[in-house]
Amino acid sequence: MRVLLADEYGFCFGVERAVDMVEESLSKNETVRTLGPLIHNEQEMERLGAKGVSTINEPVQIGRGETAVIRAHGVTPQVQAELQEKASKVVDATCPFVTRVQRLASRAAEENRHVIVVGNPDHPEMIGVKGYAPEHAFVIRDETEIGGLPKLRNPLVVSQTTIKAKTFFDTAEAIKSIAEGETQVINTICSATRDRQDAARALAGEVDAFYIIGGNHSSNSRKLLTVCKEQCEKSFLIQTDEDIDPADLDGVETVGVTAGASTPKWLIDRVVAKLENL
Ligand code: F3S
Repeated sequence: MRVLLADEYGFCFGVERAVDMVEESLSKNETVRTLGPLIHNEQEMERLGAKGVSTINEPVQIGRGETAVIRAHGVTPQVQAELQEKASKVVDATCPFVTRVQRLASRAAEENRHVIVVGNPDHPEMIGVKGYAPEHAFVIRDETEIGGLPKLRNPLVVSQTTIKAKTFFDTAEAIKSIAEGETQVINTICSATRDRQDAARALAGEVDAFYIIGGNHSSNSRKLLTVCKEQCEKSFLIQTDEDIDPADLDGVETVGVTAGASTPKWLIDRVVAKLENL
């Protein structure tokens, strides 16, 4: 059986960087606590947990002498300041693509302009971004929510890093139609999710079965499953190599493998090794 990996799979740049930063702190024997789970992958969290990494839910839970890690989604400046006050060290693992959105929002607020961020207002990334322009930023999911916006003049429109391009551009057009002055539109969508989907789609037509490695609750992994199923009926979302059922591979000659943006390489290697052994 031939095992083929998609061209893009697994950890995105921001998640890999965050995990590397945690590993670096561990190598210096720091007591590492992350504000919220570092990534949405049970097995990687267990691996880091075994090395002493634990999760806190509120900045107040950090102890003196501990290292606080801000995960890739970022936080509000207030939360960052609270952590800095309490922890002995703060490791800021905010993904640089998220930092860019925060800076754009902050600069527009300084210029006294409204900032419309297209995204999920409950998502931690959006809560963090809004904190950079609390009086000026509004987070809306899509064009259907523009009715709730105040009167806009020369607004800036940016996006949550992981939303669909169509949602962003449709919403930006709707905002242009109601805003006075000039609407500045800056696409801040990160291509990691789309690149993984495009690569999976390109491979799905060439294989007899497809394994997507990722958490059951990981939305980008579930989306990869949908993309693969469109062309390859035998597509399975698995968390680890133990979820592979050899009966599913009867008559299969070529199998494809991809993984969500929170799936670590060691887990992917295990799945590939098991498939090659079958
Ligand atoms: Fe950053 Fe994009 Fe990943 S914004 S955390 S590289 S999905």
